[in-house]
Amino acid sequence: MTRQERRVASPRVVNIGDLRRLAELRLPRAVFDYVDGGAQGEVTLRENTRAFEDVTFRPRNAVAVSGCNLRTKVLGSELSMPVLLAPIGFSRMLFPQGEVTAARAAGKADIGFTLTTISGSPLEKVGEATQGPRWYQLYLVGGRECAEAALERAKKAGFTVLAMTIDTGTFGMRERDVRNGAGVLLGSNRLAKMRFLPQLLAHPGWLAGFLRDGGMLELPNVIVPGRGPMPLAETQASLARSVVTWDDLKWLRKAWPGPIVVKGVLIGDDARRALDEGAAGVVVSNHGGRQLDGVAASLRALPEIVKAVGGRAEILMDGGIRRGSDIVKAICLGARAVLVGRAYAYGLGAAGEAGVARALEILRTDLVSTMALLGCESIAGLNRSYVDVPASWATLPAESRALA
Ligand code: GLV
Repeated sequence: MTRQERRVASPRVVNIGDLRRLAELRLPRAVFDYVDGGAQGEVTLRENTRAFEDVTFRPRNAVAVSGCNLRTKVLGSELSMPVLLAPIGFSRMLFPQGEVTAARAAGKADIGFTLTTISGSPLEKVGEATQGPRWYQLYLVGGRECAEAALERAKKAGFTVLAMTIDTGTFGMRERDVRNGAGVLLGSNRLAKMRFLPQLLAHPGWLAGFLRDGGMLELPNVIVPGRGPMPLAETQASLARSVVTWDDLKWLRKAWPGPIVVKGVLIGDDARRALDEGAAGVVVSNHGGRQLDGVAASLRALPEIVKAVGGRAEILMDGGIRRGSDIVKAICLGARAVLVGRAYAYGLGAAGEAGVARALEILRTDLVSTMALLGCESIAGLNRSYVDVPASWATLPAESRALA
């Protein structure tokens, strides 16, 4: 067992909350808060996890479940369980070669990995780290020409599905980041960074790894024509200038021959629009509560999207998944699979690849035991009859509510 594996072994780490605590210990405050925090009052952030408590199980007891088949196919991607790693920006802040490290763990677990545009590692290197399904998440920082070049490279590197994020016209107002001066930490002014010295020195393990890794100064997959890789310090301002619209989806369908999923769908109308514009799937997501605070928990938004999609496309969801039982609930309510973000980021921040592997092992073990206790043998066998939702969840969709 390696040192990192020991760090996250049972009984020290039994659930994702334990990985979160270890990540908090290893990471400087500004880095931990960037991952852990949400927008404004963090109401949606809290709701994402809390909403799972509103959904209760209806088990079939006295049923012998011998083996449990967790395999799932999503948009042509075969997964050993219905989980993909969600795109997370700036992962090299969490652990050296963060994206490559997480992709390797995803590959070994035989699940999917979604690489963010805001990656500190070249997508080719990430592509080589896993034989599992590779999805690429697109922001339009740097413009369309720049995106086309990245998509060309992504195709060659074995990425098969494109996720177009539609909820990030600008960064959400993340108060922890403002207080911590996260912009300064990611910026280029070395002198201004001196204020972080005490918290960096207080985390020598993290600091040594970060320096050895060469820091994270530019985005190697955002090559601005005539200029080269976009400097990290420009990311936020560039995002604010590059709102993704439905027009972009039309263009993207020409630029990307494979399936496209639209990520950040919270209302039925947007789901229908995404399908009308040719998306093969949607991701019900509020960006982990990091964008517009006060929107519904992803799980709460899921039924409206399921109704709007009406079986015409595949539905994924993310937001608040911390347990295998959360995954089961999402699937019972109509998701095909889930994306997990913080659940693996805490593992990455706590212990690199060993931490991500441990997070995935926790989710898998929990999935198997939840399915056995539910009396259901396969993910494909899960349906709405295995859960109850509060009566208020079954109300009219928003359009008709306005008229009522
Ligand atoms: C980036 O997409 C973020 O949420 O920080």
